[in-house]
Amino acid sequence: MIRSKNEVEPPYSLLAELTHRCPLHCPYCSNPIEMTSKETEITTEEWNRVLSEAADLGVVEVHFSGGEPLLRDDLNVLISRAHSLEMYSNLITSGIGLTMEKAAQLKAAGLENVQVSFQAGEARLSNIIGGYKAFEKKREAVYAVKEAQLHLSLNVVLHQMNLENLNDIILLAEEMGAERLELANTQYYNWALLNRNRLLPSRDQVERAREVYEEAKVRLRRKMEIIWVIPDYYSSTPKPCMGGWGAIGLTVAPNGVVLPCPTAGMIKDLSFENIRDASLRDIWYDSMSFNNFRGDEWMPEPCRSCDLRHEDGGGCRCQAFALTGDAYATDPTCMWAPDHQLIENAIQDAKSASSTQTSPIIYRRHFQDKPALKK
Ligand code: SF4
Ligand code: FES
Repeated sequence: MIRSKNEVEPPYSLLAELTHRCPLHCPYCSNPIEMTSKETEITTEEWNRVLSEAADLGVVEVHFSGGEPLLRDDLNVLISRAHSLEMYSNLITSGIGLTMEKAAQLKAAGLENVQVSFQAGEARLSNIIGGYKAFEKKREAVYAVKEAQLHLSLNVVLHQMNLENLNDIILLAEEMGAERLELANTQYYNWALLNRNRLLPSRDQVERAREVYEEAKVRLRRKMEIIWVIPDYYSSTPKPCMGGWGAIGLTVAPNGVVLPCPTAGMIKDLSFENIRDASLRDIWYDSMSFNNFRGDEWMPEPCRSCDLRHEDGGGCRCQAFALTGDAYATDPTCMWAPDHQLIENAIQDAKSASSTQTSPIIYRRHFQDKPALKK
């Protein structure tokens, strides 16, 4: 349900992106191409202020994320702060560095839930996808989470390289005693867009995987919640991205920039405020960036006169910008979008590249290294 500028409610959640630093090199990384370096990350004091302002604004849950948030030395302090402000804390992690001792410390600080990312259901494929021998370390991290009696979720980004492995992924989550498994079909922004030919699955792959997911969802309904983030290149209308622009949550990036969604910083025609210059409350209610795509006045045709416009909000603004260069365009994944042919072309390109095996994996690189962009 998309709300107008006059009906804005307080945010429910804060995504606190503590750092872009990360030990993994996933080809589907959604962090910006130009990342924030350690030197320009905001300080502990500034994060503490963000957390206080978030609580004051009505936020009830904080997701500490990255990059790899365990690389911040002050993670305990920030979790403890969120806990003292009565906000629920979730840690989104690769698991690298999450020892038994660390998990116990974070639990004592007030952490409630840990979401560990996996790249596949078995070591060889998982290590290839992440560009790092991480699988066993992740298993150890899960063990530490269980020992510390923290709630456990797993997240797996799905794509051409691991969709056939979905049975193993579900089995892994079951064996590990995860309470929640998020199966997130890749969203093609930022680094993931560079690897689209290598990541975008065929329609058949998606359909087979959806059957596996649906069977498991029923079979495991009393044990584990399974979430399926739709593969929007194969849906006829778009997802209501983030529950609507500036509607449910906000993101604070490692350099203090405040965003209506984690990838919005890629939209170059908008400027985003920084926590160093304005309060979260002013940004949430009054900033140009948050108000820009609230409601439906900004919409072009065919959205403007479409019956679904209040359900999907015209789709994802980041995707519209990434694919058309125009953040105001109808999301091209919509079958009625003037630019829908871009999606059909991308599917064809990925199919050809996969049959001729012409697309190497471009692993996520950090900071100074820029990828060789292929048009
Ligand atoms: Fe959604 Fe616009 Fe497509 Fe209608 S035309 S389904 S509002 S994206
Ligand atoms: Fe930014 Fe969809 S990811 S609006």
